Amino acid sequence: MENFEQRQSGERAILVSVSVQLLDDLDAEEFRLLAQSAGAEILEHISVQRNRPDPKFFIGSGKVDEIAELVESLEAELVIFDHSLSPAQERNLERILKCRVIDRTGLILDIFALRARTHEGKLQVELAQLKHLSTRLIRGFTGNLEQQKGGIGLRGPGESQLETDRRLIRVRITQLKDKLVKVQQTRLQGRAARQKAAIPTISLVGYTNAGKSTLFNILAKSDVYAADQLFATLDPTLRRLDWDGVGTVVLADTVGFVRNLQHDLVESFKATLEETLEATLLLHVIDSSSPNMPEQIEAVESVLKEIGADAPILHVYNKIDLSGDAAKIIYKTSDLPDRVYVSAHAEQGLDLLSQAVQQCLMGQLQLFDLVLKPAYGKLRTQLYTLNVIQSEHYDEQGDLHLSVRIAPHKLEQLIKQAHLPLDEILGKKASQFQRPLEEFEIDHPIP
Ligand code: GTP
Repeated sequence: MENFEQRQSGERAILVSVSVQLLDDLDAEEFRLLAQSAGAEILEHISVQRNRPDPKFFIGSGKVDEIAELVESLEAELVIFDHSLSPAQERNLERILKCRVIDRTGLILDIFALRARTHEGKLQVELAQLKHLSTRLIRGFTGNLEQQKGGIGLRGPGESQLETDRRLIRVRITQLKDKLVKVQQTRLQGRAARQKAAIPTISLVGYTNAGKSTLFNILAKSDVYAADQLFATLDPTLRRLDWDGVGTVVLADTVGFVRNLQHDLVESFKATLEETLEATLLLHVIDSSSPNMPEQIEAVESVLKEIGADAPILHVYNKIDLSGDAAKIIYKTSDLPDRVYVSAHAEQGLDLLSQAVQQCLMGQLQLFDLVLKPAYGKLRTQLYTLNVIQSEHYDEQGDLHLSVRIAPHKLEQLIKQAHLPLDEILGKKASQFQRPLEEFEIDHPIP
């Protein structure tokens, strides 16, 4: 089990939510969860109604004075706003409130900093934090940072970088970008190798706290950190496993989505979602017990669209032990499963999930009968490694007859990359592959 650094005692915080309408309980709850995820001890949650933000303080000066009194009487160390504040607003507020003030972006970045596990994730977080910090260098209440041992919004690189000047930060940002390019190239190579090996990839995506890691653990029988905290996973985590009736697949866990994620944050963390772009199948994990379910589904699907993920989606309605739904599969008109209802926690409906995934993947796979001459043993080895052989037997001439279930373009790729005759191996089915050879993309030979 992966553990992250958790503060011994929570930082004493006052939360401020500002809304045009009456404060939505669900938004308020999500904000509290975020603050707790960052390790805050919530002393008070204030909601303020305003038609438009005040340029100086975001909220009205009367309200600021009220909060200042609360900060003093409750001995708060931190005030967190559930909105984006301009650097000037943050400084003005710190001056009056006499404690640190962070906004929603700072809070989310802090959570990312606590959760980042891979090298790339850490670099991404550092980059995003530095960009956020570079506009906030002249600070009112954080001048004595050297004496502080970090704190919400100050962890990660913030501690050491805040007191450096903008020029140094710019240099560091450039270095980080260079490093990230290299790390991403390495990761892309890994992915290219997987693609070449024709292994279907299943990516778990979903709103934060939907239960992705819990499901991933059960499916992969692994031990990825799962907790009732937002963003328990930041980087895609991969497992290679045997899926019933399908063969070898790669399962990828991804970072949780959240509403109102500022656009530049979405940009910063896109890399963590890249696995979803190459996925053969996306499992969209949904918390069926959340009263916010429709908005959460919409938030996830719009980000998927934005990043250009176009793989088929199987909707996994999780937590049916709480929502009271029955374990079931709902089919689309096309006979492909559209939704499956499960409980990762109570391990209900997992056999249906397995079946639904199998049907979705098989919808993209086809059965082929191949005839391989003894000299084509290498192709057989490759098919065997991919776990796609359904049955095989030798005839009197010593030729091997194989029945394989595989995506047509993958089979075509394997045969052509091995420079073997398509017609001879596939018989009549070879005519399915009408494209002339030169149109076919041949990348590097399969190792
Ligand atoms: P992020 O990493 O924040 O994106 O969350 P996640 O989607 O990976 O969720 P995670 O697996 O960490 O689960 C969140 C919480 O929901 C944990 O406390 C789980 O124990 C709980 N949970 C997951 N699945 C179920 C379920 O089927 N039923 C119930 N009751 N709780 C569940």
